[in-house]
Amino acid sequence: MEATMRIGILGTGVVGRTLGTKLVAQGHGVRLGSRTAGNERAVAWAAEAGAGASAGTFADAAAFGEVVLNCTAGVASLDALEAAGRANLAGKVLVDVANPLDFSHGMPPTLTVCNTESLAERIQRAFPEARVVKTLNTVAAAVMVDPSLVPGEHELFLSGDDRAAKGQVAGWLTEWFGWRPERIIDLGDLSTARTTEMLVPLWLRLYQMFGTRLINFHVQRAP
Ligand SMILES: NC(=O)c1ccc[n+]([C@@H]2O[C@H](COP(=O)([O-])OP(=O)(O)OC[C@H]3O[C@@H](n4cnc5c(N)ncnc54)[C@H](OP(=O)(O)O)[C@@H]3O)[C@@H](O)[C@H]2O)c1
Repeated sequence: MEATMRIGILGTGVVGRTLGTKLVAQGHGVRLGSRTAGNERAVAWAAEAGAGASAGTFADAAAFGEVVLNCTAGVASLDALEAAGRANLAGKVLVDVANPLDFSHGMPPTLTVCNTESLAERIQRAFPEARVVKTLNTVAAAVMVDPSLVPGEHELFLSGDDRAAKGQVAGWLTEWFGWRPERIIDLGDLSTARTTEMLVPLWLRLYQMFGTRLINFHVQRAP
């Protein structure tokens, strides 16, 4: 078991708050970041989540974290990370949970980037000193922190250019959230994030059909 850590979470939506709550419950220090220091959801979350929870701006959260989780709306992630501050991200593992979904024309949303590029790659290019690892973006927030909510075997994917960072993140997924190592599939370099970001429209369709967020993908293969 690793010692407790300081974790900066960018994003005050259901993802940021769900991950934050789980991490605080394990004794980690978590600062939830927002565009504004007094964001109501973040302040209320910090009051409820317990000792170790705090709220601030994107820059406050990024400076606080030894590791930073990007849980902002995908269309705004580059702006949010710019606000977080280049220096506050340099050398740190940046776990990218965001999806580049544009809801401005209603449902279903469209991907703002796909096929030949991904949001994760854009983030890595814009912040070359951050160690970007894409993961968790293919499951709902509740499932991210409790894979047992979906019965049976099902998987999580990892993409990233920095092998050591991916190894650290895989360990945290197991230690923090209970994802079994054999259920974590390392797809390869960060360009493979294109494939998991493009999986999200299918996830959204399944959610619409089945009426539950407690769904995930399982990869079956011949031995
Ligand atoms: N919901 C899920 O279960 C789920 C599952 C997998 C992946 N994801 C992905 O995870 C991310 C977070 O999802 P979510 O549902 O928790 O929250 P969300 O509503 O997608 O994003 C909320 C965050 O985005 C920030 N934001 C919005 N517009 C902004 C702008 N113009 N500039 C800077 N920041 C801006 C907000 O800042 P303020 O704090 O200032 O309001 C807030 O912190 C998304 O990319 C989503 O696609 C979500």
